[in-house]
Amino acid sequence: MSTRPLLNRRLNGMGSTIFAEMSALATATGAINLGQGFPDTDGPAEIAEAAVRAIREGRGNQYPPGPGIPELRTAIAEHQQRFYGLGYDPDGEVLVTAGATEAIAAAMLALLEPGDEVIAFEPFYDSYAACIAMAGATRVPLTLRAPDFRPDLDLLRAKVTPRTRLLLLNSPHNPTGMVLTPDELTAIAELACERDLLVVTDEVYEHLVFDGAHHPIAALPGMRERTVSISSAGKTFSFTGWKVGWVTASRELVAAVRTAKQYLTYVSAGPFQYAVAEALRLPDSYYAGFRADLLRKRDLLDTGLRAAGFEVYEPQGTYFITTDITPFGEKDAYAFCRALPERCGVVAIPNSVFYDDPDAGRSQVRFTFCKQDAVLADAVARLERLGG
Ligand SMILES: Cc1ncc(COP(=O)(O)O)c(C=O)c1O
Repeated sequence: MSTRPLLNRRLNGMGSTIFAEMSALATATGAINLGQGFPDTDGPAEIAEAAVRAIREGRGNQYPPGPGIPELRTAIAEHQQRFYGLGYDPDGEVLVTAGATEAIAAAMLALLEPGDEVIAFEPFYDSYAACIAMAGATRVPLTLRAPDFRPDLDLLRAKVTPRTRLLLLNSPHNPTGMVLTPDELTAIAELACERDLLVVTDEVYEHLVFDGAHHPIAALPGMRERTVSISSAGKTFSFTGWKVGWVTASRELVAAVRTAKQYLTYVSAGPFQYAVAEALRLPDSYYAGFRADLLRKRDLLDTGLRAAGFEVYEPQGTYFITTDITPFGEKDAYAFCRALPERCGVVAIPNSVFYDDPDAGRSQVRFTFCKQDAVLADAVARLERLGG
């Protein structure tokens, strides 16, 4: 066999995701998993029933249409109108994908040429770096710094070069919980228009904003024709295993993303698409209840982590809390997280792996709070053993 490495150089160093590693550690040690962001209670029973009904009635059991079933595309368009006043034609301006993950991959593969630069907030959600690399493009990080993780907009402007093709945004931002303000979004939109940049915006936590509201950048002047908005049913409806996501954008952008998407999965999740169409039409009380529930959980974990001795950066959105372990006299988040199950029976994620700049997040650890109250209370009691 040739001595050439099997993994191509674009993916060099991206062996396995931190979530797989830490979830495996949780299983092996029996620790409480506050690492990976998946709820430990399923979403609404009637939505699960809708999926069962679709399977029984033979809806979606064979390949659904490439762009997604019309019922779901219509429900997505209605959702964008209902919450943000954004009008999209279900026929050509909406694309159903295998989770937001596929939407991100398809957008990068469709819109980037080798050598293009993509500016993205660091810490990055981990698939961004891999997808930019698979497209042969170069990531250019804009570091969000503790304690408030606001983007430095002058620095952003300075990072735009003639090779910059797109801005990859994520608000509410995983892992920091930062939510872009209307002023920040306006400044970013003006820059995108001025420098003729595309914007891909990952808004999977759109219904988990605790302070203020979620504002889609696509609604700002000049942005509709240059923005690919991405979201997913996984987080909003607590069915992360269904992997139903979507893109809303102009006809031209959707056509480009669809071209890549059709050769990745072609289609996915047939019966679940029918169920998600029903979920998106749930009354406002569902969305308000979901947010209120997660806000209570945020406060529970936030208070507990402070009591245990962590420095806590209260998130404005998402279901993650970023902390700093310096008060324990520790500096290395990765080593801390590897030892945490042994020390007190809890699993968390080191934010350091989401940075190109190793110093920027070296001592940051992320916990999720999308777990039952009793589980959070148990985790907090265990973490108090750390004696910070
Ligand atoms: C910021 C962000 N984008 C995308 C995803 C993936 O979404 P999906 O499960 O719909 O592929 C996640 C999941 O954790 C996420 O946190």
